[in-house]
Amino acid sequence: MEYFMQIYGTLPRAGPGSNELTRRAYQLLTDIPESPRILDVGCGPGMQTVELLKISNGSVVALDLLPQMIERVQAEAERAGVSDRLVTIEQDMSKMDFPPGSFDVIWSEGAIYLMGFEAGLKKLKQFVKPGGYVAVSEVVWLKPNPPSELVQFWQEYPEIDTVEAKLGVIERSGYELIDHFLFPPSAWMEHYYDPMEKRIAEKALEWRGNSEGEAVLKEAKHEISMFQQYSDYYSYAFFVMRNPVSA
Ligand SMILES: C[S@@+](CC[C@H](N)C(=O)[O-])C[C@H]1O[C@@H](n2cnc3c(N)ncnc32)[C@H](O)[C@@H]1O
Repeated sequence: MEYFMQIYGTLPRAGPGSNELTRRAYQLLTDIPESPRILDVGCGPGMQTVELLKISNGSVVALDLLPQMIERVQAEAERAGVSDRLVTIEQDMSKMDFPPGSFDVIWSEGAIYLMGFEAGLKKLKQFVKPGGYVAVSEVVWLKPNPPSELVQFWQEYPEIDTVEAKLGVIERSGYELIDHFLFPPSAWMEHYYDPMEKRIAEKALEWRGNSEGEAVLKEAKHEISMFQQYSDYYSYAFFVMRNPVSA
């Protein structure tokens, strides 16, 4: 874990995304209070948390399992001068137990898969107000018949599916779809794989001969090389949906 965190725990983001995409999704929320109460599930280092604080004039509850991530989101919010509207919770998302309808907006970039896309959407529905919004990003197949080594790579992520399949899940989970859009390749590179490559280079010499460290570097390189070879087969998509007023 220590080696893993020295690579993955130090990047500007813990998954693909960008402030531009966070803003694009947020702009789809057309009917929210002046100062919305927002929950950010699996906030990671908090790039999107800070962006939400900046653009919303609302308050954000940022939740993550890892204390290192909670420390980072707090530090980032302080640096940006928005920490007075941030509350952090170090908790397993599957154990969230907010009172029903606690939030105007629930956000989760690249993290809902940890509960399962469908199970996660159902859980979040309890905590969002009627008429409130849920915005999540999730990995999707872009075209059929992915090569077997790519299928194998995504095996740990069994719910990877097409955009159409995800839209079906959203509908049967009782949400109204507002919109969805795909991430461009730059959203994988700029804040995630480019800094990961730099970090790998920094650690390569230091960890030479250290089997645990080398295994983490190998895994990270493999992840990047999958994207370099096969980015036309998969990406992330943002899905923005609304909890109907009368469910
Ligand atoms: C792929 S990262 C996404 C982080 C962030 N939203 C972003 O886009 O940069 C997933 C995050 O979920 C957190 N996480 C993993 N398992 C969790 C759990 N069971 N409950 C809460 N957070 C969890 C990880 O620590 C990590 O920060």
